[in-house]
Amino acid sequence: MATNQQVVLASRPEGALSAENFRLMESELPALEDGQFLIKNLYLSLDAGFRQWMNEGASDNYLSAMPLDAPVQSIVLGRIAESRHPEYPEGALVMGRTAWETWSVADGSDLMTIIDESEGVPLHEYLAALGPAGMTAYFGLLDIGRPRRGDNILVSAAGGGVGAIVGQIAKIKGCRTVGMSSSEEKCAWLRDELNYDAAVNYRAGEDLSSQLEHQFPDGLDIYFDNVGGALLDTAMQHLALGARIVLCGAISQYDTDSHEGIHHMWELITKRARAEGFMFSDYMDRYPEAIAEMSDWIAAGKLSSPVTVADGIGETAQAYSDMLTGKSRGKCLVKLA
Ligand SMILES: NC(=O)c1ccc[n+]([C@@H]2O[C@H](COP(=O)([O-])OP(=O)(O)OC[C@H]3O[C@@H](n4cnc5c(N)ncnc54)[C@H](OP(=O)(O)O)[C@@H]3O)[C@@H](O)[C@H]2O)c1
Repeated sequence: MATNQQVVLASRPEGALSAENFRLMESELPALEDGQFLIKNLYLSLDAGFRQWMNEGASDNYLSAMPLDAPVQSIVLGRIAESRHPEYPEGALVMGRTAWETWSVADGSDLMTIIDESEGVPLHEYLAALGPAGMTAYFGLLDIGRPRRGDNILVSAAGGGVGAIVGQIAKIKGCRTVGMSSSEEKCAWLRDELNYDAAVNYRAGEDLSSQLEHQFPDGLDIYFDNVGGALLDTAMQHLALGARIVLCGAISQYDTDSHEGIHHMWELITKRARAEGFMFSDYMDRYPEAIAEMSDWIAAGKLSSPVTVADGIGETAQAYSDMLTGKSRGKCLVKLA
């Protein structure tokens, strides 16, 4: 019987989390019951959004607070090693929400899907452009943002798992793209490697509003918001008439329970603008459509997934902390097998 290695939430982060909030533990795998299958995990997905459910009492309509001393919830990609479920055969590649662990026992719930493997597609793409990050970028930008050729788009966390894909799809749709990031070095990478037309360092001493005024003299048509808080409030002062704000995430707020207020709501009225939230999981029945189009873009060399890959489950906690503090680039993953 194989031993499972799991990363558990050992203590609740007070403010910014660190690797010390987690602990690696080992346990015996349980015997499968009818309706269950065993996944040998190949990659763990590190997702910024899960940070908010590590807080005490965190609860919304989507997920509730992760319990202490239990494995940290996560999206994983793995192969079925053993099955007592008629719809999930041994050998199938699957993706779903289980935990930071080397093996998972699943029953087909929690976003579990069988992946239709295509020749030549590297496995990690199923957690990047062709996985939750890519689905979030695709439906958030195209369904909520509704880009038109020539639109001016601002993206926050522009080089992250979601943001890197948003910027590239916006370029494919003929938009002018401006990415925000936390250093000059990352901004240069956004322009040189991710094809953004321009980049703004929100941590530069220069006033962010002046930088946005310079980049968007006629206002921005779409703001794809991954961070919320002060950056969102500032961007709201630079909307063009009929602008769309895609409320994807609020990473600047996940370290606290009390979210910062937004002061420039009035701009939505005078600019006849729309701010709309969404969850990628709402679109599960349309993933095939997105995967088909994104696969064509990847094959045509128009889209690629930058990734930062940590090696082995023991690196998971540090890699997650590094991602939240902006040390990584692109989609963050842990390679297990
Ligand atoms: N709605 C949905 O269905 C859905 C699904 C998936 C993800 N999301 C959201 O999408 C966002 C991105 O998630 P991800 O997993 O792809 O993470 P990510 O962008 O790969 O990593 C997070 C990045 O956010 C930036 N950041 C961190 N703290 C910040 C702060 N205080 N202010 C501004 N930027 C900060 C850093 O990039 P820089 O160094 O470049 O600033 C960091 O690398 C998150 O808000 C997440 O909740 C939403």
